[in-house]
Amino acid sequence: MVSCLLPAHHLDNKNVQTIEAFSGENLHPVQRALMAHDGLQCGYCTPGFAIEGIAFYERWRAERGTERPTRGDVAEALAGHLCRCGAYAGIYEALQAACAGEFDSEEYTPQRVDALEKVTGQAQYTTDVHLEGQLVGKILRSPHPHARILNIDLSEAAKMAGVEATAALPDRNLIVRYVGQPFAGVAAVDEATAQKALEAIKVEYEILPHVVGLDAALQDDAPDVWAKQHRNATSAAEGATPPGHWNKNLRTSRMNMGGLNPGHAHKVVDNLKKQGKYVHAESYYNGIQVHTALKEK
Ligand code: FES
Repeated sequence: MVSCLLPAHHLDNKNVQTIEAFSGENLHPVQRALMAHDGLQCGYCTPGFAIEGIAFYERWRAERGTERPTRGDVAEALAGHLCRCGAYAGIYEALQAACAGEFDSEEYTPQRVDALEKVTGQAQYTTDVHLEGQLVGKILRSPHPHARILNIDLSEAAKMAGVEATAALPDRNLIVRYVGQPFAGVAAVDEATAQKALEAIKVEYEILPHVVGLDAALQDDAPDVWAKQHRNATSAAEGATPPGHWNKNLRTSRMNMGGLNPGHAHKVVDNLKKQGKYVHAESYYNGIQVHTALKEK
């Protein structure tokens, strides 16, 4: 079952087995295999994989004994359970080995010092930390893809019992440029209070035209998203934004990276073509990736 889609009342009069059943003396072969095959990295997904893997193991062993499942058998059985770190190779190998009986004995060699904590659900993450007097922070985010924020009124939120702090970006005429852009926040004694305080913040928006996607942003009639605010343009890169030239929404770098001048690649390609050499041209795009270490303590 996918626990996040399962209403609790459906479990009335049923037994629910969680990872806590498998620790100490009761360590399961699947857990030993996960540790030995390094089927985990941060460990956030690991208790779920262990429980799901144990269910698969029990079914498999009842029906097929110690026959080794294929990688596909395991992948299909665990489909729907996601590992953000991408530890799948180790997870699949671990399940195959456990089903084949390689971890029926208590011997195993963990690949990580904290593997046992992770396969038994004991590892601590930020949401497990509760310090004396700890507050809960919540961020107010833009519901609009492009808007000027004319006014932010924090007064009602600030007066609420249990709210310890409120804050908003000081910039007057602040412009937000994507749905979800943060611009205000509260800190309160608990999550429910923080949520109510967030809802009490009054914001006046002037909705501006927006554009989505590279091709649309390069059209002549596209709205100029950073008009007169180029100096505030953000960068997805880690570190300072290098200087650049703007042509409406298109920004090109002025940096001379590694000795290559702007346009140099085109000249190289043109020369190769002139020499009759085969040239393959293609455009590749990938999403912005920012590594966010929210899960570790
Ligand atoms: S080990 Fe699976 S999410 Fe990190």
